[in-house]
Amino acid sequence: MSLKGRDIISAKDLSREEVEFLIKEAETYRNILKFRKPLFKAEDKTAITVFLEPSTRTRLSFQFAGTYLGIKVLDFGATEISSIQKGETFEDTMTMVDGYEPDVIILRQSVAGNAEKAAKICKATLINAGDGINEHPTQALTDVYTLYRIFGRIDGLRIGIMGDLKYGRTVKSLSIMLDKFKDIKLYYVSPPSLKVRDDVLNEIKNVDYEFAEKVEDVADKIDALYVTRIQKERFADPSEYEKLKGSYKVTKDMLMKLKKIPYILHPLPRVDELTPDVDELPQAKYFEQAKNGMFIRIALLKNVLGI
Ligand code: CP
Repeated sequence: MSLKGRDIISAKDLSREEVEFLIKEAETYRNILKFRKPLFKAEDKTAITVFLEPSTRTRLSFQFAGTYLGIKVLDFGATEISSIQKGETFEDTMTMVDGYEPDVIILRQSVAGNAEKAAKICKATLINAGDGINEHPTQALTDVYTLYRIFGRIDGLRIGIMGDLKYGRTVKSLSIMLDKFKDIKLYYVSPPSLKVRDDVLNEIKNVDYEFAEKVEDVADKIDALYVTRIQKERFADPSEYEKLKGSYKVTKDMLMKLKKIPYILHPLPRVDELTPDVDELPQAKYFEQAKNGMFIRIALLKNVLGI
């Protein structure tokens, strides 16, 4: 199976078999790294992280992944110190970055569709680390890898996806990713004004799904609950955000009242939709999920670089 040179723009860019292969590889590298053994020495390969929007997990997990793979990893730095501040266009910025001949560019920016545009501009392999409200395919890999680690399988799972389903790019990529598996049921839980978009539902061919407004209505039917924050930065009208702020919340008290507490996942960062007291529960898996992201990104980087 070869992913060498493959741009990863959407969760659609990987088949089920390729996702399963990456999960297997992530498990292998996780076990080797337990013993602090170096994975490879691929000093001839260079990756650059270009994050034109804020990030902690995706940026750092790719940088650690590259470091553990033994490749060179550069960072574009904050947009404030780049010539974007002087008015340089996105197209020129990407042309310049690619001109220095990195093997792979890991790109996050705010415009839906600009990851695809960058892939057309750049000779380097392009990994989409989030393009506005569109997609975040390596988060979806992280999410299914986490489900695999919890349940030992992905087929047959019942998953609640809760929160800002209108603007959340992880919601779209996870829905597409889970659509590759068998007998999945999704419960989209959100306030009416943050319902999942039609362009997301149009991508789903195999998965059965339902809508709900409250977690309590689906809690006894689901194996895992994937909570997402309200994407404040996507609201054109700040007063709309203020109206919705705090409109849903997962707390320890609320979970303790359920007959069965589902495993709790969250792409993070969280704001106020998932209270810190939930961290005490054994079902809280979101920090492990963030760590899993590094191992699956090691597997992905290794394979797109052909190491
Ligand atoms: N989940 C996620 O994309 O987190 P960051 O924005 O911190 O990268």
